Amino acid sequence: MRETVVTIRSAILVVVVAGVATACGSDTPTTPSTPATPAVSFSQQIQAPILTPTCAGCHTDEGRTPSGGLNLKAGASYAQLVNVASTAKAGATRVIPGNPSGSYLVQKLEGAADIVGLRMPRNGPPFLTDAQVATIRQWIQNGAPNN
Ligand code: HEC
Repeated sequence: MRETVVTIRSAILVVVVAGVATACGSDTPTTPSTPATPAVSFSQQIQAPILTPTCAGCHTDEGRTPSGGLNLKAGASYAQLVNVASTAKAGATRVIPGNPSGSYLVQKLEGAADIVGLRMPRNGPPFLTDAQVATIRQWIQNGAPNN
């Protein structure tokens, strides 16, 4: 009698576990629930629409010394930004791949309290829009690829 009860209990347990597994299985989405990381093209979404028109007037080596020792014209900017130390602020790095808030470029664009010099662009306002800064932040979050 006792063994029969145990066997019935085991059988019920198996049915319940199988039922839960089936229910979970049927709920499994076919697409991943976490959204894919938005890709950002440095050349097409940052250089062409932001750096070249808004920054490269001062940050260029054409006919002058680049402001802040930072050349942001097309073809030169990437090598001047990623993993390069700030000329003005000791210990700061212009772009730290994967770390938007820690990147001095972002701090200068957002006008963080502890930057050296002024918020960029230096002739602002207007400053960059929230969407433009978000694009730069996303690119850095993505690892700051040269794409
Ligand atoms: C009107 C000229 C001018 C424009 C336009 C301008 N800058 Fe600057 N920038 C400067 C000067 C001058 C400095 C150095 C003094 C300062 O930081 O205020 C500087 C410094 C910087 C620095 C710090 C460099 C370092 O290594 O410490 C960054 C980063 C920067 N600018 C980014 C930008 C970006 C990005 C833009 C465009 C959105 C921009 N600037 C537009 C003149 C300009």
